Amino acid sequence: MVSIVPSILAADYTRLGEQAMEAEAAGVEAIQIDIMDGVFAPNLSFGPGVVKALRPLVKLTLDVHLMIVDPDRYLDVFVEAGADRLIVHQEAPQHLHRTLQSIRALGVEAGVALNPATPAHVLEDVLDLVDLIQVMTVNPGFGGQAFIHSQLAKIRRLRQMLDKRSLNIPIGVDGGIDTTTAPLVVEAGASVLVAGSSVYNETASVAENMAALLASIESR
Ligand code: DX5
Repeated sequence: MVSIVPSILAADYTRLGEQAMEAEAAGVEAIQIDIMDGVFAPNLSFGPGVVKALRPLVKLTLDVHLMIVDPDRYLDVFVEAGADRLIVHQEAPQHLHRTLQSIRALGVEAGVALNPATPAHVLEDVLDLVDLIQVMTVNPGFGGQAFIHSQLAKIRRLRQMLDKRSLNIPIGVDGGIDTTTAPLVVEAGASVLVAGSSVYNETASVAENMAALLASIESR
């Protein structure tokens, strides 16, 4: 099963709630909310207030992608705001094992994101605490960047590592996902595709863009 997860970083901020509801109406299971602190990622985006505002509007999974240097300080705030899954970067916390335990203890799913320079094997000893692995296919910070093709090999390695240990952890990808790159990442073993500018844009509606992405995967 492949799922497309729209990233609202690319949405129209004057009507963020509507854009989230459009995604839900288009049949997505989750949307991703990118949290950036201007330090871990060279940009500033949203805070827990946006999660709290969107929560009553949609039933879908609210995926909170924490691109911040000290995620441990904010785990409970985002869960209280309505997050269903917290994704932290392997490169951020001092003690990833403890951070993942803390996320699970808050009763939500725990995801780990890997920057393009971070090898897959760093996760070998925490896989029992992970519900999703997100391979960054761009360097964190902005939507609309070019897909980094070298990450396809990392996705394949991860898939092999998980299959070898019979671990059914979905592999997500984030950055530069469109109708050309979506089939490539699925072929490599990814099943959760975060997409910003290919879902939210002036060219077509959310539903039309979603249909085009899914068609590109089905026709691969
Ligand atoms: C980048 C974010 C991505 C970004 C994806 O740091 O984590 O989610 O919004 O945008 P596109 O799909 O346009 O590359």
